[in-house]
Amino acid sequence: MNIQEFIEELISTIQNSELIKATFSNIRNKELELEKSFANLILIKGSTSLQIEYRYKRIIKHKNILITDKLELEKTLTELFNLAKDINIQTKKQNINIKISKKFKLAINRKNADNKLTITGQNKKKSYLLDENKPHAFLIELGIQSKDGKIKKERYSKFRQINKYLEFIDHAVKKLDPKKTIKILDFASGKSYLTFAAYHYLALEKNIKVNIIGIDLKKEVIDSCNEIAKNLNYSGLEFIYGDVADFSTTDEIDMLISLHACDTASDIAILKALKWKVKVFLAVPCCQKEINKQLKEKHIPFMLKHGIIKEKYASLLTDSIRADVLNSYGYKTDIIEFISEDNTPKNMLIRAYKESDFIDKAKLLEKKSYLANIGIEMMLLKQVTK
Ligand SMILES: C[S@@+](CC[C@H](N)C(=O)[O-])C[C@H]1O[C@@H](n2cnc3c(N)ncnc32)[C@H](O)[C@@H]1O
Repeated sequence: MNIQEFIEELISTIQNSELIKATFSNIRNKELELEKSFANLILIKGSTSLQIEYRYKRIIKHKNILITDKLELEKTLTELFNLAKDINIQTKKQNINIKISKKFKLAINRKNADNKLTITGQNKKKSYLLDENKPHAFLIELGIQSKDGKIKKERYSKFRQINKYLEFIDHAVKKLDPKKTIKILDFASGKSYLTFAAYHYLALEKNIKVNIIGIDLKKEVIDSCNEIAKNLNYSGLEFIYGDVADFSTTDEIDMLISLHACDTASDIAILKALKWKVKVFLAVPCCQKEINKQLKEKHIPFMLKHGIIKEKYASLLTDSIRADVLNSYGYKTDIIEFISEDNTPKNMLIRAYKESDFIDKAKLLEKKSYLANIGIEMMLLKQVTK
């Protein structure tokens, strides 16, 4: 059997909804920095798609292809088969291991399997960490579920966002010591849907001892969140009114989260995270104005003459530097999709897990001079290179 014949077989497995998971590893072209790729079926708005996750060294990307789009499936799978030397495919009926030689010859090993198919997706309750048919006191209190435990139709995208967020929390918490009380700070917590969700999930569903503090500039919102936490009997959750820049602590902080904090508030969160050597840092920055204001059209005129492109370019540059700063401080750092753009355009999550205390000053200075060359100064880089 050659590659093309096998791909034909795989496409019919996909179109019959029999694929569970495909893993593509041992990538030939090292320059791509692609470490692995996974494919599985997901449901998006009632239609089944093949979701491919590309795990690069520093970034994770996703691509969804409708299973009815045979041409695109063929093109994408051919690319993957030309890249990976080892492929594992789990279907409802078989486990298939494939080795692909230098000359692109296939060695296929098939075993019968007793795999049960689960299609995950945005419309399937199975894929959510929170059971959508069970009443959760915090969701009722926050007006996302009705008293009888039904998710309100107009709050469904919030429910989805909460669940997606909990997947990141679930991943992150595995980096921490489960025997200790986990201390989490949520900078710019706002109405705190996600803060309540994190508390509920960790304390009530996972039985982890946790202490979470949300901090925000809006006094009335903080008061109302404290009231809700009290009503829910969430003894390890509190909210403090104030500017995150002024917040100080002598406690050991395990996780610092900052979601949709405006402009340089994300940089302040990073600076505190570095100072406190937090083990996990999660941020979804928004309105990155600092670089945008200084960016001159002349640097890339054909791009930056368009306001919308300039804004996006400034955000990408800002967030890439933020991730790089964390990386220079010994964090394993990824920039990944937080939640689909259908929910919010502010959808890039900077995720950083502490791995060492080594600080790469040269790398920080290199970024600073790169920006200086295009006439830009960034508060974060200024602070970390003092
Ligand atoms: C868009 S809301 C995000 C709320 C929440 N984190 C979320 O993602 O749902 C932004 C919040 O950031 C807060 N904020 C902005 N700058 C801040 C600062 N320097 N200190 C504390 N809160 C800040 C605002 O008051 C607002 O509530």
